[in-house]
Amino acid sequence: MKIVLLGPPGAGKGTQAEIICKNFSIPHISTGDMLREAIAKETALGKQAKEIMDAGNLVPDEVIINLVKERIKQEDCKNGYLFDGFPRTIPQADALDNQEIFLDVVLELTLEDELIINRMSGRRIHQSSGRSYHVEFNPPKNEGIDDETGETLIQRDDDKPDTVKNRLEVYWEQTNPLIVYYRSKSIQTDLKYIEIDGSKTMENVSLEIKKALEE
Ligand code: AP5
Repeated sequence: MKIVLLGPPGAGKGTQAEIICKNFSIPHISTGDMLREAIAKETALGKQAKEIMDAGNLVPDEVIINLVKERIKQEDCKNGYLFDGFPRTIPQADALDNQEIFLDVVLELTLEDELIINRMSGRRIHQSSGRSYHVEFNPPKNEGIDDETGETLIQRDDDKPDTVKNRLEVYWEQTNPLIVYYRSKSIQTDLKYIEIDGSKTMENVSLEIKKALEE
């Protein structure tokens, strides 16, 4: 099963990706997590990406395409994977087509801008795994501490209000066109396009995704 999770920043892609990947035993490929890991390790890619991400802009297509190409060559991807935050531009989607990578499902999570701002300001993450929490909607068992490792949670640099505003603008300009792109593909091919209302509780969003994937 090859799945793409589409949706604006903060829509709940990372949260739902973890659950879907457990259910289908497929790896969660989050380009955002891969870039944050490179930043934490201070690699050449991390140094290139940091400023761009902190400003809420997109990392160049060819950098991302190469990153993903390498990742999906790994053994754990042989039975499929879930892309979270990729593709994010039409050239990134075209790169999948050019490599004859055919997706089974595109799952779009929708959420209004006001709710997005609220979700981002309360988000806390565990840096090395990318696990995300919310101070109000999904708090860890102990405040500020990751449930699984006991390590301290952090706030993402790009969750500051000004950066969030730019990320939303970038989303509507550069990523939103993928909705039309994949909707029309779903009419012409076997691709299944699913739209889910991301404003419901995490449990309800999860149940709706499960139901739609099983249909
Ligand atoms: P990336 O890490 O991909 O960020 P994003 O797409 O902006 O999405 P987020 O991670 O912010 O949100 P999410 O939808 O995963 O929400 P979450 O589940 O955490 O990208 C970051 C940056 O990297 C980009 O800006 C860009 O610079 C670069 N980049 C990455 N990929 C790239 C690419 N392909 N090309 C170019 N550049 C790229 O949930 C948010 C919060 O809400 C959490 O606190 C969560 O606990 C809470 N929550 C989740 N669901 C619910 C619910 N139903 N109800 C209440 N709260 C909820």
